[in-house]
Amino acid sequence: MESFKIISRSEEDTARLAADLAGKLPRGTVIALYGDLGAGKTVFSRAFARAIGVRETVSSPTYTIIQEYILDDGGYFYHLDLYRIKNSRDALAFAVDEYLNDSNAYALLEWPERIEDILNPETLKINIRHLSDTEREITVGY
Ligand SMILES: Nc1ncnc2c1ncn2[C@@H]1O[C@H](COP(=O)(O)OP(=O)(O)O)[C@@H](O)[C@H]1O
Ligand SMILES: [Mg+2]
Repeated sequence: MESFKIISRSEEDTARLAADLAGKLPRGTVIALYGDLGAGKTVFSRAFARAIGVRETVSSPTYTIIQEYILDDGGYFYHLDLYRIKNSRDALAFAVDEYLNDSNAYALLEWPERIEDILNPETLKINIRHLSDTEREITVGY
């Protein structure tokens, strides 16, 4: 996929982008989702999950760090919120690498900067930047 940048003007725009990407990305994809508090990472994650077939309600696993959802065909969606993790050493202590190397799963990371040093070069990077109350600049690339 070529890198690109869009302006999202609503929560729905961001959700639509997430669903579009979900339809194009293969199983095994790891998505690093960057953005400040309130940028729309969870909005994106929820729409992405829905589009790959997760039926449960997705909310950010801020306290549990990892939430895993099983898909109908036995695949998985791993949703990680690394906000409370200090660094990759702490993350490896709970075997974060197993979530990042599962070819039968999608893994989506909020606060990926915490483990930047162990992210694989194939990780898809999405950056959501606040422009205004309702507008976000979203860049997608590797
Ligand atoms: N263009 C937009 N894209 C995504 N969210 C938006 C947008 N405009 C406003 N919002 C609002 O911003 C908030 C984003 O919250 P959330 O997804 O929980 O952020 P994060 O997980 O990055 O902290 C929501 O209240 C959402 O309605
Ligand atoms: Mg969030």
